[in-house]
Amino acid sequence: MISKNNNIYDEKYEFNGINKPKKDLQYKLIKPKFSKEEKELLEELRNNLVDLAISSGENFQIDENALLNDISEWINRNTLSDDNKKVEKLANKLLGEIIGYGDIDPMIKDDNLEEIMIIGVNKPVFVYHREYGMMESNLTFSEDKEIISIIDSIARQINRRIDQESPILDGRLSDGSRVNATIPPISADGPSLTIRKFKKDPLTIIDLIRGNTVNSDLAAFLWLCVDGLGVKPANALISGGTSSGKTTTLNALAAFINPRERIITIEDTLELQIPHKHTVRMETKPPNIENKGELTMDDLVKNSLRQRPDRVIVGEVRGKEAITLFTALNTGHSGFGTLHSNNSRETITRLTNSPMNVPKIMISAIDFIIMQNRIYRSDGVSVRRVSEVDEIVGMEEGTIQLNKIFQWNGKTDEIENVSVSSNTLQSIADIKGIKTTELHNEISRRKSVLEFLAKNNIRSIHGLGKVIENYYLNPYTVLDSISDFS
Ligand SMILES: Nc1ncnc2c1ncn2[C@@H]1O[C@H](COP(=O)(O)OP(=O)(O)OP(=O)(O)O)[C@@H](O)[C@H]1O
Ligand SMILES: [Mg+2]
Repeated sequence: MISKNNNIYDEKYEFNGINKPKKDLQYKLIKPKFSKEEKELLEELRNNLVDLAISSGENFQIDENALLNDISEWINRNTLSDDNKKVEKLANKLLGEIIGYGDIDPMIKDDNLEEIMIIGVNKPVFVYHREYGMMESNLTFSEDKEIISIIDSIARQINRRIDQESPILDGRLSDGSRVNATIPPISADGPSLTIRKFKKDPLTIIDLIRGNTVNSDLAAFLWLCVDGLGVKPANALISGGTSSGKTTTLNALAAFINPRERIITIEDTLELQIPHKHTVRMETKPPNIENKGELTMDDLVKNSLRQRPDRVIVGEVRGKEAITLFTALNTGHSGFGTLHSNNSRETITRLTNSPMNVPKIMISAIDFIIMQNRIYRSDGVSVRRVSEVDEIVGMEEGTIQLNKIFQWNGKTDEIENVSVSSNTLQSIADIKGIKTTELHNEISRRKSVLEFLAKNNIRSIHGLGKVIENYYLNPYTVLDSISDFS
């Protein structure tokens, strides 16, 4: 049963699909209502802003906090309300109306939505809800110019331009959401806009365990490998189709990195949210209007190697930067990245062919390929699963050899450990001079920590980060406190 009261939605939303089959659910947007005085105030505020924008020319920038203060003062002056809480609420409502993203603004603010999709005029705006999957909304645009006005305001905010000459806009909103917009001639049915919402509260490994994307065996195994007991931190690529959850899994695994390490992240659009204090975040820069000043992934990966990183994390590996990254991995740095592909073999084929062109001999610098899949259920809702984990164990007669360690079983929806032994564990044991059984014992201990956290829903990025940090400082204190609770 879906209701307004279960906190799925704030007051602006409701579903009108209660008790209907899931495929008929509609995302219903209720436009905020304004009183006559509020409407007048809105009109006046808009006119003032337009005047200010015209007089400031190109340098026009809105200072949201200052504007919010001005609006609150105006409300007080006009005695619309003198209750502080009400003034604040009204001021925010008006601010949202003025500087937000027009009709889709409430959707952008809804953390339950994964994606917002405008596909043209006279067609419903679609949304992908984290829990209920793809659904139509009750919002429709009847004219191109309404959609273009939203796209233009996004373009202005990120200092880009979209026009006949460059009809594609790719960028990031100030809240971190990714946006892609197209206008005719390349989108035949009118302007389109796709917004991949940034999750302010990112999914952690505990969420992935609770949601069955991984199980605690696999998570504990990866924790040990990511850390490598300080002697051999694993390098891994997370591979999968579009929107299969690669970045999310990468982000979740990065939390296992020992907080003593220095991490450098390199991305096209900042998506990663890593709890470590010592993280340097780098973002590529597209060329400016004169086609100058571009900084590519490759430029940033090269530069990161001069920054003494312990770990280099590359958001998405797809071009020339692959060779730079693999050179770094072959020369003692550790790293992670995501890559677009459908299976482990294809991951290797893509890496070793144009445009990445990584020499085969270098591929064994990665220890694992973690395959991630998005699986659609019959009700249209999708689930994400790590479908397999393959170790790269070497090369025979020009072919890279893989050792499958974990595999998802579609019938039982379980992830099975399918390997008798792991090369990665063996080499950690060799370097440490210990037996692999000791590593398996350590994996069991870490598994008990993860299961405790999952059971008690201790999942936030910082809550979990603290436990991992403590575990690295003194594992037995953490293990003791868990057994005290259980
Ligand atoms: N394991 C998961 N369980 C539930 N939701 C998930 C999971 N992984 C990712 N998501 C959600 O799916 C969406 C896409 O995830 P993500 O960006 O990680 O995918 P991706 O494979 O990196 O996509 P892209 O191909 O665009 O790079 C996000 O909104 C994210 O919150
Ligand atoms: Mg991604």
